[in-house]
Amino acid sequence: MVITKAAGLHGEVCVPGDKSVSHRSVMFGSIAKGTTKISHYLQGADCLSTISCFRKMGIEIENQRDTVLVHGRGLRGLKGPDGALDCGNSGTTTRLISGILAAQNFDVVLTGDDSIQKRPMKRIMEPLTLMGARIRSLRDNGCAPLEIAGGPLRGIDYTSKVASAQVKSAILLAGLYAEGDTKVTEPFISRNHSEIMLKYFGADVRTEGTAVLLHPGSTLEGRPISVPGDISSAAYFICAGLMVPNSEIFLPSVGINPTRDGILKVCQAMGGKVTLLHEDSGCGEPTADILVQSSSLHGTVIEGALIPTLIDELPMIAAMACFADGETVIRDAAELKVKESNRLEVMVRGLTAMGAHVTETEDGMIIHGGRPLHGAEIDSHLDHRIAMTFAVAGLCADGETRIKGAECVNISYPEFYGDLKRLI
Ligand code: S3P
Repeated sequence: MVITKAAGLHGEVCVPGDKSVSHRSVMFGSIAKGTTKISHYLQGADCLSTISCFRKMGIEIENQRDTVLVHGRGLRGLKGPDGALDCGNSGTTTRLISGILAAQNFDVVLTGDDSIQKRPMKRIMEPLTLMGARIRSLRDNGCAPLEIAGGPLRGIDYTSKVASAQVKSAILLAGLYAEGDTKVTEPFISRNHSEIMLKYFGADVRTEGTAVLLHPGSTLEGRPISVPGDISSAAYFICAGLMVPNSEIFLPSVGINPTRDGILKVCQAMGGKVTLLHEDSGCGEPTADILVQSSSLHGTVIEGALIPTLIDELPMIAAMACFADGETVIRDAAELKVKESNRLEVMVRGLTAMGAHVTETEDGMIIHGGRPLHGAEIDSHLDHRIAMTFAVAGLCADGETRIKGAECVNISYPEFYGDLKRLI
């Protein structure tokens, strides 16, 4: 993919459905009773992996693209699959499904692509083992493939070292099957889509500060879900609109859940003109239309409780900070090292290749803004968020930006390049 400098971006983009909410709608719908009708389901490779795993466990799922119908069979309705479950590139599928599999009356092997086989799974193996689960990393390296032997579980009171919605959700899902209550406490609140959807389906879940408490015993009932536009996908257009001079972009119906809206806060702190219109709420997930206009930006500090609310947007924010006056500091973001790629290293390398002044730190980076960028050849490392970030950076750089492995946007946003080109 070759990207060149843009003179201005104009128009409307209807971003695809939220990845986190899409995954959960199929998973929770599968273990609920009755049919869950999902609209605006994300048809990206990761969410298709989730559909395929549950189909392999006997769940009938009709994917009509605009609408997905999940014919749930209740908490005890899954069947042992023939062969391993393949989670592809999806960390969310691998970690959340482990919580469900730990409680089944069958054994499963869970695997995925090269990237998934390098990502840390001890973070779910440890709490699930405390709940009584039997999980083994087949290569004994704390990564997939995982062998999960399902069986009876007990509730736990667990304090997680990382603020991770995937860890929290895996424990809560196992907690649905456990004897006794389950409590998960995080250092900061991570995205709360599981809590919202489980409650909507009838589970007894409540939040106390940074803790979530689940009391098992309720049956889940499938209900209609309207998936909001993914704020993580919208982030590329929000930042592009601010960075590229003479731009105005309208993004209808984007999810603005407060555990996900850090990107909006950072854009505002940097002086970006981002306006929310028509705020609404469906299925407990708030949405708004977002209007973005080119702005002159200045640096900011991003740290602490803000980090989990924009974890997937940090690559894009780092690139945007190159076009802001002064320094932007990102800290408390060591989690970036264990995403689909080592996003700290890959971002620093790519931005430096484009002429930016960026320093990598232990748990983040410092971006010294204001230097003009030039095109370069960028390796996406098959990480969708890296490919999309550098496509946007390329719109503000002199010359050509070539992205290697650009097709990986298929993971979360198959129409990304088409949507971007229509704005030019
Ligand atoms: C996700 C949680 C986050 C995020 C990922 C999706 C989820 O990961 O980075 O893209 O849907 O729960 P962590 O839980 O590892 O922070």
